[in-house]
Amino acid sequence: IKVTYIEFEGPEREISAAEDVSLMEAATQNDINGIDGDCGGACACATCHCYIDSSFLDRLPPLSETEDQLLDNVASPRLPNSRLGCQIKLSPELDGIQVRIPETQA
Ligand code: FES
Repeated sequence: IKVTYIEFEGPEREISAAEDVSLMEAATQNDINGIDGDCGGACACATCHCYIDSSFLDRLPPLSETEDQLLDNVASPRLPNSRLGCQIKLSPELDGIQVRIPETQA
């Protein structure tokens, strides 16, 4: 499953990841800068904040209450397409998704 990460004011990179890997894990495994994943994917740290290509938004799992609350406290502005990368597992229907990385996670 192909994912393109676009670093803040930086390069964009396309990587390939397996199904069920999260957007946070795929980023950290491929040394993408700007997605930290400090809590290891437990939906507890919000350092995996990212902006999802709006054409993919309706294919994502719904926002949980915890994710919603964490997104209210992210370090970079929360936008309508803000999500936590660890809460989005890759599936074939997300092939080709573009993910923009915010300026800062801390
Ligand atoms: Fe901690 Fe996503 S990795 S909330």
